[in-house]
Amino acid sequence: MASIDDRVREQYEAYPYPHRDPRDEKHRLVEGTPSDLDEVRHYVYGGRLDLGRPFRALVAGGGTGDAAIMLAQHLASAGAGDAEVVYLDMSAASRRIAEARAVARGLANMRFVTGALEEVAALAPGPYDYIDCCGVLHHLASPEAGLRALASQLARTGGLGLMLYGTYGRSGVYPVQEALAQLVDDLPDAERLAAAHRLIAGLPDTHLLKRNPLVHDHRKGKDAHLYDLLLHRRDRSYRVPELAALLSTAGLAPLAWLEPARYAPRPISPTRRCGAGRRRCRCSIGRRWRSGCPRRWASTSCTPASPAARRWPRRIPALTGRCWCCAASIRRRWRRA
Ligand SMILES: C[S@@+](CC[C@H](N)C(=O)[O-])C[C@H]1O[C@@H](n2cnc3c(N)ncnc32)[C@H](O)[C@@H]1O
Repeated sequence: MASIDDRVREQYEAYPYPHRDPRDEKHRLVEGTPSDLDEVRHYVYGGRLDLGRPFRALVAGGGTGDAAIMLAQHLASAGAGDAEVVYLDMSAASRRIAEARAVARGLANMRFVTGALEEVAALAPGPYDYIDCCGVLHHLASPEAGLRALASQLARTGGLGLMLYGTYGRSGVYPVQEALAQLVDDLPDAERLAAAHRLIAGLPDTHLLKRNPLVHDHRKGKDAHLYDLLLHRRDRSYRVPELAALLSTAGLAPLAWLEPARYAPRPISPTRRCGAGRRRCRCSIGRRWRSGCPRRWASTSCTPASPAARRWPRRIPALTGRCWCCAASIRRRWRRA
């Protein structure tokens, strides 16, 4: 009988995620969080990323290429001649799509590797100035081992953009997953997908999955998305304390949340205790993490109440580029730190 690892691998060979057509590269670039170059520059490098020097990024579990293609395109457009984006994924089918997208864009700053991210030290060794790992660790038998493997390949000043499923954001998903696992787990994929369609069609409008505006994969009309959302063989989610515990197993500490305002305690409580120090400070805890001493980075993520923050420049560059939701142009501007 196939192990869970085998079945997860088979899923991503049969249904590369997300569904992408390389021909679409001719008329649009998929951009998002994490790993927009301006985000990396802002959150990881405090606005001081020097692209005149060599820059290496790893996209671990790169899927059909969204983050790797975006970052490689941003680096190429920024004239970063000595930059490289390494794509790593265990799915050969996903890699083929990602590679075709790179070819369609004429990107020459990418390298593609097939294999398990737990073996990154042997397959695609660092050090990396930045690592993207979006929507992957929660599918691993040991997210802790996966994160440790990635953290070990970060440069001393590097940072990691991490996305993990949030328990509350996925309200409604897990009861449906459980029902399908009980009813159709041993059937062929086509029948499991058909059952998922029938189950969704029969859900009452009051069901949390139907009322949750943050979850879209069952509305996209693509098997890869429906499978990933409701039929995955290994899928767990995190609340903030669980995420903090996961990070600490790899010697990482939070730098910022994306988007910070959603997690900032300030509207509720004007001051709070920073987890890393005794001083009262206003701070955003986060979904973007940096290597090195946890205390050091936890304190530099705090705003002016801490001495570390007072040493920061008084003005920092704000994000520029295109707004991901309305595609409006965002002008370069500077704001007070
Ligand atoms: C949900 S998809 C996310 C893809 C991409 N990061 C994105 O956000 O669009 C998860 C990806 O992780 C890959 N993956 C899962 N476990 C992996 C492992 N242990 N090593 C490498 N890749 C893995 C899968 O093949 C799949 O492409």
